[in-house]
Amino acid sequence: MSDELKEIATELRRHLAWQESDGSRSILGERTAKTAAAAPVAKAPAPVAKAAAPVQQAKPAAPAIVKPPEAPIARRPLDEIRRELGDCQRCKLCNGRSTIVFGSGNPRAELVFVGEGPGEEEDRQGVPFVGKAGQLLTKMIEAMKFTRDDVYICNVVKCRPPNNRNPEPDEIEACEPFLKAQLASLQPKVIVALGKFATQTLLRDQTSITRLRGQWREYQGIPLMPTFHPAYLLRQPEEKRLAWLDLQEVMKRFGKKGQQ
Ligand code: URA
Repeated sequence: MSDELKEIATELRRHLAWQESDGSRSILGERTAKTAAAAPVAKAPAPVAKAAAPVQQAKPAAPAIVKPPEAPIARRPLDEIRRELGDCQRCKLCNGRSTIVFGSGNPRAELVFVGEGPGEEEDRQGVPFVGKAGQLLTKMIEAMKFTRDDVYICNVVKCRPPNNRNPEPDEIEACEPFLKAQLASLQPKVIVALGKFATQTLLRDQTSITRLRGQWREYQGIPLMPTFHPAYLLRQPEEKRLAWLDLQEVMKRFGKKGQQ
């Protein structure tokens, strides 16, 4: 199965699990006695006045895909969350990593950047975004009139995927509670989600990053701006213009003005 199909299947499984726990399964068009009893009985269509007019069959409504409500997460200090992560063996990424890359920056940051996962250099140093993509991220942060010490930077997965491959759904699932705990601890004013994995994980939305970028969204009530990942921008420098538009939107939230 391709990565994309696997992602869709995982997301579908999550919806189903949640809907089943709620006693309803509208996604499959099945309903339990509980929801069936609560739902109003659909009326038969009114008789058609003119025999000559073609009868319009009402289309069955598309099953609503309801997003699982995100339970609020307890606010705990970052060092406590790091201790809980410990010498993590929760997924197979632990086999190839040298260092867990938890996150770095200001624990009181109002602006948080979330990336995908550590690369080779990050794995060596234990600090996020210190390789080539990291150097570009640092430039982006500075263009926004912040420094790396002002902001907080972390990743969806805390251990390097072998050969910098994409993180797999089970790895994301194992690490996601720690990212969520970090964000609950930081309670930033704005989150910038860098690339597909950060954006799709936090928003639980499988829409492509090309479509999501530049549009304000919310994660647990916190404004979130999806944008391109710096590693992608290194490969596609012509897209930097769009990323800069996204970052300028973020700057506006902080009352900062960027160069056009
Ligand atoms: N890419 C990421 O997504 N995170 C890092 O820390 C480094 C590169």
